[in-house]
Amino acid sequence: MADRYAVMGNPVAHSRSPRIHSLFARQTGQDIEYTRILVEPGGFAAAVAGFLAQGGRGLNVTVPFKEDAWRLVHTRSPRAEHAGAVNTLVLDPDGRHHGDNTDGVGLVRDLRDNHGARLAGTRILLLGAGGAARGVLEPLLLERPALLVIANRTADRAVELARRFCSLGHTEGCGLPDVTGQHFDLIINATAASLAGAVPAIDPGVITPHSWCYDMMYGNAPTPFLQWAARHGAGTALDGLGMLVEQAAESFWLWRKVRPATAPVIAALRENH
Ligand code: ATR
Repeated sequence: MADRYAVMGNPVAHSRSPRIHSLFARQTGQDIEYTRILVEPGGFAAAVAGFLAQGGRGLNVTVPFKEDAWRLVHTRSPRAEHAGAVNTLVLDPDGRHHGDNTDGVGLVRDLRDNHGARLAGTRILLLGAGGAARGVLEPLLLERPALLVIANRTADRAVELARRFCSLGHTEGCGLPDVTGQHFDLIINATAASLAGAVPAIDPGVITPHSWCYDMMYGNAPTPFLQWAARHGAGTALDGLGMLVEQAAESFWLWRKVRPATAPVIAALRENH
């Protein structure tokens, strides 16, 4: 019988993880089954126990359960520990679960390995201070940027986040208007603004012709943030599809100890748009 994996979230119907993991499994000859499980608010721990009882071996966790997953697991990787959020569970039959967070490494691999970005010594602007931003901070800082500014609509949240991560690198937190007058090599949108068709209210003067703009979201059409970036002359504008596939590949590796090739999977997903 195939080993069982799933993604839990609410909503979860839109998740592309089953398709990505079935492409990985076919490519690497791994016998796995990967499904979506819709979990009601407050029902995460019971859902994990139920999945384990049915022989489940691992889970991906998406909105809004990443913090619940962090609390549930017995051991955590350092990057999950610092992020305060878990997106990958390795389920042990004896009921001791390990939690990891592959989002940040997914972002870094997409930027660095798929697109050839150089992050060391650069100036990075991270927009947002919620769970999505927190999940990528440690892997970004491990690339040794010269400066990482976290700018958020609610400035206090950015200041607090910068304080929590300042031991890992030069990090500052501020409000969105405070970045005016600065330039950045890489601007990452980790806000939920795109969901409302909006763009974080920052001065487009932060963009130079050499700037890269990266939206952690993706869609069939360029996101509002990427349209904004192109309108204001960003040299490179990338959506988060590559990050999605890279974080999935890292989860697959944690479960199966096999690394799938990501480029053909990214290409297959792009074709299906
Ligand atoms: P997630 O887990 O997706 O990060 P979250 O923790 O609710 O979700 O955080 C959402 C982030 O998007 C926050 O940084 C939020 O800013 P506030 O902290 O000020 O709420 C940001 N955000 C949401 N809508 C936004 C908008 N229209 N413009 C700018 N920032 C926005």
